[in-house]
Amino acid sequence: MSASLSRPRVGVWLIGARGSVATTVVTGCAAVAAGLHPPTGMVTETPAFTDSGLPALSDLVFGGHDTLDCPLPKRAESLTAGGVLPPGVATAVAAELAAADREIRPGGPTPGDSRTEAELITAFADDIRDFAHRHELERAVVMNVASTEPASQGPGAPLPASTLYALAALRAGCPYVNFTPSEGMHHPDAAREAEWSGLPHAGRDGKTGQTLLRAVLGPMFAQRALSVRAWSGTNLLGGGDGAALADPAAAAAKNAGKERVLADTLGTVPEGEVHIDDVPALGDWKTAWDHIAFDGFLGTRMILQTIWQGCDSALAAPLVLDLARLTARAHERELSGPLGALGFYFKDPVGEGPSGLAEQYEALVGFARSLREAGPARVDESGDVR
Ligand SMILES: NC(=O)c1ccc[n+]([C@@H]2O[C@H](COP(=O)([O-])OP(=O)(O)OC[C@H]3O[C@@H](n4cnc5c(N)ncnc54)[C@H](O)[C@@H]3O)[C@@H](O)[C@H]2O)c1
Repeated sequence: MSASLSRPRVGVWLIGARGSVATTVVTGCAAVAAGLHPPTGMVTETPAFTDSGLPALSDLVFGGHDTLDCPLPKRAESLTAGGVLPPGVATAVAAELAAADREIRPGGPTPGDSRTEAELITAFADDIRDFAHRHELERAVVMNVASTEPASQGPGAPLPASTLYALAALRAGCPYVNFTPSEGMHHPDAAREAEWSGLPHAGRDGKTGQTLLRAVLGPMFAQRALSVRAWSGTNLLGGGDGAALADPAAAAAKNAGKERVLADTLGTVPEGEVHIDDVPALGDWKTAWDHIAFDGFLGTRMILQTIWQGCDSALAAPLVLDLARLTARAHERELSGPLGALGFYFKDPVGEGPSGLAEQYEALVGFARSLREAGPARVDESGDVR
């Protein structure tokens, strides 16, 4: 990937590029870059990240893979009708949506696909390299925002699609971020290859609602020496994610991450389960209810209940943009391996790091500071090399 004397541009290759999250990412990036909306929800737009050398939103170029062929502008239209995107914004950024749409390549494996795993990896990697080459990108980050897959089938089973894409990212020399609970780089075949690739990677499963609250409340109970007896949760959601999570095997993959934060912050796994119900009428809007039974002084029994009503893609999209910028900068600084400092963003973080949100935020800000220091030369807004 060549750097030119014009501003270096960074690719964001979205696996699941026609989904709700991906469409909101492309629309939102263009809208914020054009000054149509403030960057609400983007942590990298806060002062702690000002001098970290992150790529500008206007320097991001989007492409990706999907197994569907619904055009991106059409997808944005239906997200507007569902109230996920504000009226008028998709029309205002129609050119950017059309440009990203032209860069989406057929994903896989699709039913009846006769290509071997090696052929699929090669084809995916070629698509990413071709994208980077044609746009003269300085680098590209591969971001998994595809439908959640069922939990791992164990040794000997075919590689899940998310792992084929993770291997393709490594093959194309790109950092990789897994915003989903799917196996991706966690598969032993990919983990082995990641280790000697010299590339950074991050994941998994974006922490946007129920688990975000758990990462705040878990430490609170522990620090106040209150004894949590049971922690139960229910999620109602629709959209493509709701439909995918109606499969109990996919829901199991998601729930494992939600429970990990409690084990890590409380030091024990309390009684209680997490349920996910597909309610198509809710579309992208999620209601997450948590019921926490705890004991106070002298065993006095008490209850905390929380209800989170969020728009999933609007919560996820700014984090995906943050992660693309941070991972691209980490790659530029020649960091490699699991980026544990990005645990702030994930339910089931890779690498070492704390589990409570406050400590995760501190680690993230420290990481942002370290990115400032002595990075390889960059070209500034006016085209000067620094
Ligand atoms: N708040 C959030 O929205 C949030 C939080 C954490 C994680 N996630 C995860 O992000 C992912 C995307 O969510 P969404 O709401 O956009 O879902 P969605 O159903 O709208 O989009 C998923 C897209 O992936 C595509 N896809 C499926 N299999 C593919 C394959 N093999 N190759 C390429 N593309 C493929 C689908 O065609 C679809 O366009 C889900 O896995 C979800 O669990 C979302």
